[in-house]
Amino acid sequence: MLVKSAFVTLFAYALAAVVSAGGTNDTLASPHAQRSNGVPVVKRMERLHLPRAESLNLRFPYNQKTMRGVSLGGWLAIEDFITPSVYASTGDDRVIDEWSFGKYVDHDKAVSILRNHFDTFITEDDFAEIASYGLNHVRIPFPYWGVKTYPGDPYVKVNQLAKLRQAARWAAKYNLKVIIELHTVPGGANPFDHGGHKGHMNWLGNADNEGRTLEILNALASEFSQSQYSAVSAISLVNEPIGDTDEIRRFYQRGYNTVRGAEGSGDLLVVIGDGFVNPANNDYWRNKMQPPKYQGVAVDTHVYRLFDDGSIALTQDERISYYCAFKSSFADANKYIWSMVGEWSPVFTDCAPGLNGRNTGARYDGSYPGSTRRGSCKNRTGNANNFSAGFIANLRKNWAAQADAYESGLGWIMWTWKTEGHNADDWSYRAGVRHGWIPRDPTDRSFSC
Ligand SMILES: *[C@@H]1O[C@H](CO)[C@@H](O)[C@H](O)[C@H]1NC(C)=O
Ligand SMILES: *[C@@H]1O[C@H](CO)[C@@H](O)[C@H](O)[C@H]1NC(C)=O
Ligand SMILES: *[C@@H]1O[C@H](CO)[C@@H](O)[C@H](O)[C@H]1NC(C)=O
Repeated sequence: MLVKSAFVTLFAYALAAVVSAGGTNDTLASPHAQRSNGVPVVKRMERLHLPRAESLNLRFPYNQKTMRGVSLGGWLAIEDFITPSVYASTGDDRVIDEWSFGKYVDHDKAVSILRNHFDTFITEDDFAEIASYGLNHVRIPFPYWGVKTYPGDPYVKVNQLAKLRQAARWAAKYNLKVIIELHTVPGGANPFDHGGHKGHMNWLGNADNEGRTLEILNALASEFSQSQYSAVSAISLVNEPIGDTDEIRRFYQRGYNTVRGAEGSGDLLVVIGDGFVNPANNDYWRNKMQPPKYQGVAVDTHVYRLFDDGSIALTQDERISYYCAFKSSFADANKYIWSMVGEWSPVFTDCAPGLNGRNTGARYDGSYPGSTRRGSCKNRTGNANNFSAGFIANLRKNWAAQADAYESGLGWIMWTWKTEGHNADDWSYRAGVRHGWIPRDPTDRSFSC
């Protein structure tokens, strides 16, 4: 995840202005670039000139069945609000993201903290429980340094890739599909803590970093498109990139060619983030990345109404209207380019400790710099045993309205499966089912738009 600041909201408006000035041409990356990943060009050219669905061997019928799933947030890519013990156990307040974790923590200690976390936070039981709730997808945020690090990187590569392989085998056992989601890229595609290095982004337009990202995508696609990992049905090229939308799209074209060129026995759905240009309220993506050149592409939008004062101030009715207004425009967008909501949540406060960054306050209770207090965060996050009936009713309706709206497109992936201990039960799909604001059968809704 996540859209963390008003900065991004403003940025999105600026981008929308750029976008409406008109797009540029969709062209293939040069043959030279295609060859550089060591894959024969011929195979790709054959694919690209075949008509849409029939020429692809997708591993999930995205145009026939609704995608319903959860992200395994905070597992292989760390987020402080999901698993606060990882950074807390360093005893070092300078550690606020994986960059500072790698830089300041003794290497052996860092390795042992991560290994323990990877082995204990998500296990086979989680896959069994996810499947038992009628979901068909897990989206796994993955850091590039799980594949390799580059000179000067402080990031700690341990056994992230081995854990991803294991996850793909567990998913197969429980009949779940996996979206491998490249959550961090070399240089950083956004300035959020979960992008690797908080406050830094030097990816878009940096030839070295974009090239390295293609190298990572090539490695992931060639590995996980093999038949032994047939549970893996999709790959998401880069999480929440910020910048000029045409420039982002040009990277996506290269990323698409890299993935298609690297594929083994199966074709992966190629998921592209909307770059904060939401297909439900902007027509930018409608004529981009189209067949026959581009097939099996889904544009992914993330919906959170809680990372700016205006969103926090919405009434419950205003919030539901916003979600429901999505339904028909999202359905419409989906006719032009497959559209999905790859992150969203029923949560409507930013109270969860660490959500806005380690040791950073919340807008909801006014403890975030420059924010306006709306109320107390007490019993609005943490242990769900303390949530009031009214609070749970709001979560329930926010969940049902959004699930309904997003199923007008390809479907949805909720953020997130669970949180450590009871740090933030409000964000946990598992806690939602156990406490009744999320239905055990996700089609059994208390509300529809
Ligand atoms: C797109 O690119 C092709 C090939 O370079 C060119 O012939 C065509 O005029 C371009 N179209 C637009 C709309 O720029
Ligand atoms: C929070 O929940 C607990 C348990 O239900 C309750 O005892 C306490 O009074 C609540 N606090 C507030 C401020 O509502
Ligand atoms: C919430 O509930 C837990 C366990 O029931 C309790 O230990 C904790 O103090 C409560 N928190 C608040 C803020 O009331």
